[in-house]
Amino acid sequence: MRHIVKSLLIVLGIVATIFLGRHFLTPDSWGKYGHYRADYIDEEANRSINYGENDSCLKCHSEVVDMLKHGEHKTLSCEVCHSPLSEHIADGKKIGSMKVPTGNEIDKTCLNCHQKNVAGRPHKFPMIDKNEHYKMLEIRADHNCNQCHTVHYPKENINKAKSLSRNLREAVDNEAK
Ligand code: HEC
Ligand code: HEC
Ligand code: HEC
Ligand code: HEC
Repeated sequence: MRHIVKSLLIVLGIVATIFLGRHFLTPDSWGKYGHYRADYIDEEANRSINYGENDSCLKCHSEVVDMLKHGEHKTLSCEVCHSPLSEHIADGKKIGSMKVPTGNEIDKTCLNCHQKNVAGRPHKFPMIDKNEHYKMLEIRADHNCNQCHTVHYPKENINKAKSLSRNLREAVDNEAK
């Protein structure tokens, strides 16, 4: 008889611990709407928005936004290379500076996406190796990418140069006729 009472007491103890534990460890708003913490909805909704996307720059930097739209970088977000909008603008006013890469930081930024041989990048994606690229161009290693590539429209100058030299060649050919 005593051993039955003893085991019943143990079982009761376990059950009581489970109920007490559940009572103290379950968040207050659990189960209000369903099988989750209801407060989570407000917490998520009130999280501050850091990124503004490119349209949020339009009002003050329409020229750059426009330039980006017309070039090979049209799918990029400004905030990939600069900073999140929230560090720059609040209530429509400038509150802080945007990061602007300079010198070798620019090369690093570009190569984050364009470095050759990064596994998993689509085969057709334009990739270079800086050494090979500079060798092909016959330039010194201390050049930065933006000396030839307009960062917001990377082939703008190159396309212009190509079309100029084409026109020049045609003019020379016509002269010769
Ligand atoms: C691929 C990276 C990249 C993207 C994307 C990019 N920028 Fe830039 N931006 C730079 C770099 C690097 C510089 C500075 C060097 C230069 O202009 O050659 C710069 C310069 C600027 C400047 C001038 C700052 C100064 O003091 O000279 C402004 C303004 C600017 N960017 C705004 C934008 C806006 C707006 C967008 C989106 C529409 C954008 N950028 C997208 C890399 C980028
Ligand atoms: C409400 C206007 C406003 C908006 C919106 C705005 N900027 Fe600016 N931005 C400024 C002003 C003002 C400056 C300082 C310009 C100057 O000194 O010539 C500036 C400067 C910059 C610079 C140069 C570095 C610096 O901080 O001085 C960059 C880069 C830049 N903005 C990028 C952006 C990007 C990217 C966005 C959108 C995500 C954006 N800005 C949205 C007003 C704005
Ligand atoms: C966040 C990723 C990213 C960064 C950073 C970036 N690019 Fe790009 N770049 C792209 C994408 C995406 C394209 C379009 C590729 C396509 O058309 O398949 C592109 C296209 C180009 C092209 C045109 C290639 C071609 O032959 O069509 C050049 C040149 C280029 N980028 C140079 C640069 C330079 C210089 C920088 C640094 C200032 C830079 N990129 C930074 C993503 C990036
Ligand atoms: C001296 C000028 C110059 C410099 C500096 C330069 N490039 Fe280029 N880049 C070019 C030219 C010109 C082309 C176009 C080649 C062509 O179309 O035949 C090109 C093409 C590219 C392409 C497209 C390649 C492809 O396969 O379509 C990418 C990506 C690129 N450059 C990235 C960069 C990066 C990143 C840097 C800095 C590390 C850089 N470039 C520095 C002149 C330059």
